[in-house]
Amino acid sequence: MGVWVALCAGAALGALAAGAAWYGVCRVQRGAFAAALTALWAATGGQAREDGAVSGGRAFSNRFAWLRMGARARRLAELAAAAQEQVDSLRRERDVLVEILQRMTTGVVYLDAHGQVRLINHAAERMFRRPAAQCVGAEHWAAIGHYTLCTMVDRALLFGEPWQGELQLRDDLRVMAHVVPLTLDASPHPLARHALVLVNDVSQWHRLERMRSDFVANVSHELKTPITAIRGFVETLLEGDVDPEAEQEFLRVILDEAVRMEALVADLLTLSKLEAEDARVQLEPVPLAEVVQSALVRVQGEAARRGLAVRAEGVEGITVWADEGQLLQVLLNLLTNAIHYTPAGGEVRVYAERLVDRVKVHVVDTGIGIAPEHLPRIFERFYRVDKDRSRLTGGTGLGLAIVKHIVSLHGGEVGVASEPGKGSDFWFTLAALDPA
Ligand SMILES: Nc1ncnc2c1ncn2[C@@H]1O[C@H](COP(=O)(O)OP(=O)(O)O)[C@@H](O)[C@H]1O
Ligand SMILES: [Mg+2]
Repeated sequence: MGVWVALCAGAALGALAAGAAWYGVCRVQRGAFAAALTALWAATGGQAREDGAVSGGRAFSNRFAWLRMGARARRLAELAAAAQEQVDSLRRERDVLVEILQRMTTGVVYLDAHGQVRLINHAAERMFRRPAAQCVGAEHWAAIGHYTLCTMVDRALLFGEPWQGELQLRDDLRVMAHVVPLTLDASPHPLARHALVLVNDVSQWHRLERMRSDFVANVSHELKTPITAIRGFVETLLEGDVDPEAEQEFLRVILDEAVRMEALVADLLTLSKLEAEDARVQLEPVPLAEVVQSALVRVQGEAARRGLAVRAEGVEGITVWADEGQLLQVLLNLLTNAIHYTPAGGEVRVYAERLVDRVKVHVVDTGIGIAPEHLPRIFERFYRVDKDRSRLTGGTGLGLAIVKHIVSLHGGEVGVASEPGKGSDFWFTLAALDPA
């Protein structure tokens, strides 16, 4: 029996020696070897602890402690590398989110439970006209400073009530604001509410909406005048108590008003066609001189009747990219205006000026001119300096608006220079076919 025990102990020590040698050759196996060593020690009577350390046989254990420490250091280094990787990835994600937040056109303000601004993006800085440096950490009444909005933020923070509504932040800035109460799970006080303010600029929609309703009101008004006149004269004629001369006169007025309504409806249709989504102009090379000539032929009769000279110069040899019909309409509108607003004996002239890759076409008259205060609005729909005079000439107040629309569809610009009593110079530009 004693012999067997001695043999077994000898075999075990031999195995240990072989294991130690193997470890020296292959350090990678160090962790596994240490584990095996621990198990073996436990099997031969030692006490293995949960963490793999071995009690009992202290001298033996100390000798191999460096093996276990090396394994732990390696594990720690691996954990640290993984943690660093995660931190880097989270940082990258945060940077992307911050970039998205800053580039949004919606203004975003995030407020904590105390109503202090924690975050404000560029759009909100612009809308509230306060730099982030002044806002972050400040109380919302100081940072946002809009009574209704701040009240709604307080309600969101206190009672968790969301809100949305339109606000006029400044004369030129109307916004749609949303106040969203937030309850963050991660907050140390789970019931504490935070709030998010989202602000969208709706000034442009508002302007368009107002223009649309102004336009409808203007059209109704423009139609109402001739309709009232026609109705009045027809009623008088129907009463039958009118002498033949007055009857002729009444019928002429009715005809004039009907013609005016026809012109108005024609201009409205032109505008609506130009505005249609599919209003794509077919640009083709058009000889400018030919179109100017056809426009002159059409207005010559009326110009002569009004004692005006009309001529063109410097338009030969120029080819422009245009829709021929629309270019003719532009010239006719400008020429009829020039003729209508120039007293007898005056002159109307069309000439072209070559720019680098474009051509600037001028329609110049020696007429009544336009005072400077009217010039910025002259291309607006229904804008007229003298409404009565415009009506007398059969104007609809839409001629210049049509000109501007057509030219902008061609990618060109319109403008006017004018001096009261001296005359006006209306011009527009178009792309020219050959460089100058
Ligand atoms: N050549 C011009 N000389 C003076 N005033 C002009 C001239 N062209 C346009 N206007 C002014 O611009 C206004 C708008 O022109 P337009 O849109 O063509 O409408 P209208 O139907 O009245 O001619 C006119 O009512 C007139 O007051
Ligand atoms: Mg006109």
